[in-house]
Amino acid sequence: MMDDTPEPVGPETDAPKSSESSEVVLEVQDVTKSFGPLSVLRGIDLTLRAGEVLGLVGDNGAGKSTLVKILSGYSSQDSGRLLLKGREVHFKSVQDAAAHGIETVYQDLALIPQLPVFENLFLNHEILHFGLFHVLNKHKMRELTKRYLDDINVNVPNVNAEAGQLSGGQRQAIAVARATRTNASILLLDEPLAAMGARESRLIIDLVRGLASSRRVSMIIIDHNFAHLFELCDRVNVMQDGHITIDQLTKETSLEQLTELMVTNYRSQLQNAFGS
Ligand SMILES: Nc1ncnc2c1ncn2[C@@H]1O[C@H](COP(=O)(O)OP(=O)(O)OP(=O)(O)O)[C@@H](O)[C@H]1O
Ligand SMILES: [Mg+2]
Repeated sequence: MMDDTPEPVGPETDAPKSSESSEVVLEVQDVTKSFGPLSVLRGIDLTLRAGEVLGLVGDNGAGKSTLVKILSGYSSQDSGRLLLKGREVHFKSVQDAAAHGIETVYQDLALIPQLPVFENLFLNHEILHFGLFHVLNKHKMRELTKRYLDDINVNVPNVNAEAGQLSGGQRQAIAVARATRTNASILLLDEPLAAMGARESRLIIDLVRGLASSRRVSMIIIDHNFAHLFELCDRVNVMQDGHITIDQLTKETSLEQLTELMVTNYRSQLQNAFGS
């Protein structure tokens, strides 16, 4: 039995929106990963700060999801180190990473469509009636779901609605809410806006920005859309050829500049590879 009362979302802090000066929560040092002869990650270095939203971009197959899987405890690197607040960690499983405050939201498999919103929110952390085994305290779960979704400004028609009846954006918002309901301090989002319309994207963008500013959740977000990333992120990292080749604060660059940088970088890689 557990009292899983969500932490209240505090008032907006005075912390600066960009988090350049805040504490480093996650460091990835020289991480490599190969699949047989295919060397996908060749020495990834990455830093994430408290309350920072970091965008990760790169071509299809660049290795973004591979990195997220390593950070989420789903798989492990061949070499290199992960440090949480300066301490090296070796995750044994996704549950182990979650116990260290790292949660992941995948585009698919996020929710169980046949279950109502409130049961999805408490999946694997159900609240039981005091003294009774296996009897869910649905009343309490409903109440806490309403309160938490209210706190983080997520609107769903009804917490009793089946998740399968919600829009893609609402489902994704519930998945993010579930990941942050407990004490996740780092949230990994693999293409949260894929296949979403403008209104739904707006919902998730607002939710992400709100969680970063009010709860100081740090996030790594994978997205192919630069315009989204510029709205969402404090910083953008570009993954090319198994390395992070560009690390830019979004406020210090523009969409055009970043695109140009990527193209220049790509051309010089081609020249190095083919000597032309
Ligand atoms: N379990 C695996 N076994 C073999 N190869 C894999 C495995 N997982 C990923 N790969 C390969 O590693 C490379 C990187 O894949 P990954 O999914 O990390 O790319 P990505 O950057 O997330 O791409 P996308 O933008 O298309 O999602 C790809 O060539 C992929 O085929
Ligand atoms: Mg991917």
